[in-house]
Amino acid sequence: MSNETQNKKLWGGRFSEATDAFVEAFTASVDFDQRLYAQDIAGSKAHAGMLARAKIISKNECQSIIQGLDEIQQEIEAGQFNWSVALEDVHMNIEARLTEKIGEAGKKLHTGRSRNDQVATDIRLYLRQMIDLALAELKRLQQGLLSLAQQHTQTVMPGFTHLQVAQPVCFAHHVMAWFEMFERDVQRLLDVRKRVNVLPLGAAALAGTTYAIDREYVAKELGFAAVSENSLDAVSDRDFAIEFCAAAALCMTHLSRQSEELIIWSSQQFGFIDLPDRFCTGSSIMPQKKNPDVPELVRGKSGRVNGDLIALLTLMKAQPLAYNKDNQEDKEPLFDAVDTLLGCLRAFADMVPALKVNADAMRAAVSKGYATATDLADYLVKKGIAFRDAHEIVGNAVAWCEKESKDLSEAPLSVLQEFSSAIEKDVFNVLSLEGSLAARDHIGGTAPRQVLAAIERAKKSVAQR
Ligand code: ARG
Repeated sequence: MSNETQNKKLWGGRFSEATDAFVEAFTASVDFDQRLYAQDIAGSKAHAGMLARAKIISKNECQSIIQGLDEIQQEIEAGQFNWSVALEDVHMNIEARLTEKIGEAGKKLHTGRSRNDQVATDIRLYLRQMIDLALAELKRLQQGLLSLAQQHTQTVMPGFTHLQVAQPVCFAHHVMAWFEMFERDVQRLLDVRKRVNVLPLGAAALAGTTYAIDREYVAKELGFAAVSENSLDAVSDRDFAIEFCAAAALCMTHLSRQSEELIIWSSQQFGFIDLPDRFCTGSSIMPQKKNPDVPELVRGKSGRVNGDLIALLTLMKAQPLAYNKDNQEDKEPLFDAVDTLLGCLRAFADMVPALKVNADAMRAAVSKGYATATDLADYLVKKGIAFRDAHEIVGNAVAWCEKESKDLSEAPLSVLQEFSSAIEKDVFNVLSLEGSLAARDHIGGTAPRQVLAAIERAKKSVAQR
């Protein structure tokens, strides 16, 4: 073996031959985990500060470590850092460079810790930050939805079940349904954040360390709300990353459902909305085309995040305690889920306030589908007819309208009265779209005044975040 090559490894002491070249590349993670450099440096600075307070290293050593790490961060950010696959991962790349820069003191940084608790700390710091970014984008998206809703409490559209016209709703009510989905995504992310925000450092390789360390100090320095209770658990479980991916997958599912609606609604057949040109692309062959690429991509990308979630669940399943190298595979799915979620949220937060709504097309669509049939049945019930009988009467009336190509509101009173003598002139109040909306006047209903109140409540709760 070449002693020289092997000596480059920070763990090379007990080895008698150099790592196989393929194995070296195969086991390295630096190509993807260098993304964690800022968190790794922040964690190392807090660790060094703790070592100095506990008199495990001197104040001077601590100072030169911190200065060295700051310089390394600048080198990385200036694109001047030489990442080496031979040094395996982000942790050993930075540590080796530190020792190269400051000598002996650099070799003391790893006292009382292991890459196992180090990497777990880095991922938690990273994920906490990414959750905060996702929450900021969600807030922007929710604010966009609120302003869209506010403008459309009087815009009537068909509410659908089975994608068939069902009952009239106001467009604001539909928009607020989206808002509610994202509100639960926010709550889920806030909840995940609590379990992410726990410090593993101090667990060392798996059993803790023999030095008199001060974990509470490190936690405070890094903004963690608590320290982990069990060292074996701290270095091994990635459930917090799995939970994040689950929350991200659900949020992507919501974005995907909304995408589907935007795609359908912007088709010529519906024409309910117009997506701004800057969120669409054309066809290379059909000059007339304007395709809803952004929502289509978001709908497609929701599949990747589901994949990331399954990858992490499968990675964790059946791992014995404590750390196993399997866990190095946690990063790429997690990064992919983060990038995908942030990108899609950003696209939607930008796009939603720019949607153009075609209220006339919505109104025309709801006027066609006998959307007020339930209102007519409810009207008959209020005149003393049992609901099942009312249902039958209205069914017959709809059949007549279909044959005559008329809406219920266009049927002459005399015709309606043939179906039930309980029908009087006031029936046309309930057959109108506005009457139908206004009648659903309770919390959660589509009456414009209820929707306005819901918007006000939502605005307040978003402003408090
Ligand atoms: N690159 C490793 C990871 O991502 C760091 C921890 C390595 N620990 C070890 N004992 N090999 O998980």
